[in-house]
Amino acid sequence: MTIVSFTNLKGGVGKSTTAVHFIYWLAKIKKKSVAVIDADGQGSTGVWLQAMELGVELHRIIDADELADQIPALEENFDYVVVDNAGNLGEATRSTLLTAKIAVIPISPSGLDLMSAASAAKVVRQNQKARGGFPKAGIFINRATKNSKLLSEAVEVIGQLDSITPLKQIIYRRELIADTFLQKATVWDLAGGKEAGADYQKLFGEILRLGK
Ligand SMILES: Nc1ncnc2c1ncn2[C@@H]1O[C@H](COP(=O)(O)OP(=O)(O)OP(=O)(O)O)[C@@H](O)[C@H]1O
Ligand SMILES: [Mg+2]
Repeated sequence: MTIVSFTNLKGGVGKSTTAVHFIYWLAKIKKKSVAVIDADGQGSTGVWLQAMELGVELHRIIDADELADQIPALEENFDYVVVDNAGNLGEATRSTLLTAKIAVIPISPSGLDLMSAASAAKVVRQNQKARGGFPKAGIFINRATKNSKLLSEAVEVIGQLDSITPLKQIIYRRELIADTFLQKATVWDLAGGKEAGADYQKLFGEILRLGK
């Protein structure tokens, strides 16, 4: 029913970590049916999800044409199709922006990353023009340090992007989050993960509201 694509022009911003937490939240906490497309050739999202045995259907597709075919086909049979993209704006990422209802863009609060937000906004805008306003796009700050100057600068930058909604919930830099991949778990499974889990939950609520 709803295709959500985790996208950025940059690598290493937290697409996969956030996508895996989102998938877990949808499947295990919200009890939704979820298909996952790992569109990143590295395949780490698939490995992580398989280890958690969430009962989600996993597809590894990196070919742009196949993505354009398969994503809408899967949409009919699941509550959510979640796509984790590679960190670039290749043909594959463009295919997912052509089909997604919601695009989620994580960004880390550093000057260079923030520059990529403007380029992301441009690509999103092109798609929205061609597709009657879709994908609805949301951007959030990931790996932030509380009360830092960089964080307040980042909040200002993402507030000025037309075509992309700045999401209010910030995801802070936490060792626990960085450890989830190695543990093949999410913050909800780990001791001390309550605060991080609550932050993710609020962020995911905002993401779903983008599609309404
Ligand atoms: N909130 C956070 N706090 C601490 N570490 C984080 C946080 N979010 C992500 N990380 C870490 O940052 C690194 C990059 O994250 P991730 O792999 O999710 O990014 P990505 O955008 O999917 O990268 P790629 O473009 O290579 O696919 C990983 O080591 C991850 O554990
Ligand atoms: Mg990734």
